Amino acid sequence: MKLNGKIAVVTGGAMGNGLGIVNVFLKYGAKVIILDYSDKLENTVNELKNSGYEIDGYKVDIRNKEEVTKIINQVGSKYGKINILVNNAGVCKLDTFENMDDELRDFHFDINIKGTWNVTKATLPYMKNINASIINLSSVTGPMVADSGEVAYATTKAALIGFTKGLSRELVDYSIRVNAIMPGYILTPMVENMAVETNKENSNSVINSIASAIPMKRLGTPEELGELTAFLASDESSYITGQGIVIDGGSTLPETMSMGV
Ligand SMILES: NC(=O)c1ccc[n+]([C@@H]2O[C@H](COP(=O)([O-])OP(=O)(O)OC[C@H]3O[C@@H](n4cnc5c(N)ncnc54)[C@H](O)[C@@H]3O)[C@@H](O)[C@H]2O)c1
Repeated sequence: MKLNGKIAVVTGGAMGNGLGIVNVFLKYGAKVIILDYSDKLENTVNELKNSGYEIDGYKVDIRNKEEVTKIINQVGSKYGKINILVNNAGVCKLDTFENMDDELRDFHFDINIKGTWNVTKATLPYMKNINASIINLSSVTGPMVADSGEVAYATTKAALIGFTKGLSRELVDYSIRVNAIMPGYILTPMVENMAVETNKENSNSVINSIASAIPMKRLGTPEELGELTAFLASDESSYITGQGIVIDGGSTLPETMSMGV
């Protein structure tokens, strides 16, 4: 199995994309440590433990640098190394640039950018010279496309591409690869909540209309995202670093919605 013996830290693994990544990592033989601030964490970890997997969870807000560092030091001392870090935890609340207050802007900046920074900084000492891999969850939103209400979110996801490029250049000297994943729409609690924000009475119609605009006519699954993450985490992607890989069912492909035979 391609992740046998690897120690993987996944942030935001209690649900959604993070949980899809965790499931695929466990399937490929990794030991997984989840960092998440959700009350759902305990349930997620217990269910996976009961299925016989090697998994641990720590309830922490990645904005809390001291707490994150303490936990990562515990994990690092227990295993002596951390092979894989997936910076997946992230948030998105829709509001227009004109309406959004600084507090909601900073909510995005503090979690999506500074939280990722905190976890990476704490984990780095345990990743040197073991062919480790860091994967940052960016998005097609920001670097490539955007819908209205996503200015703050798009700003942070574009920033993570810069973070990936800068960091990959420096960490190559420690044999650490750093890549970003740029998903289109994946069906997760985040997207379900955004659909409710968009249309409280009929959020399903929002999901259906997102699907109809995607060439594959469906949203992606967290497990499909997990498979790409596992590839980037594994030694099979050993010559790939500093890249942003799109996984979107072709959603960024159409030039128009009306032309074509
Ligand atoms: N779902 C999509 O369509 C999509 C598309 C592109 C990128 N992404 C990215 O994928 C990642 C996961 O998104 P998702 O859709 O699964 O979201 P989600 O809201 O369904 O799950 C996010 C998880 O992260 C955790 N989390 C959030 N903030 C945290 C914090 N400060 N500290 C600790 N844990 C925290 C949450 O508790 C939750 O378990 C995000 O970075 C998101 O930007 C998602």
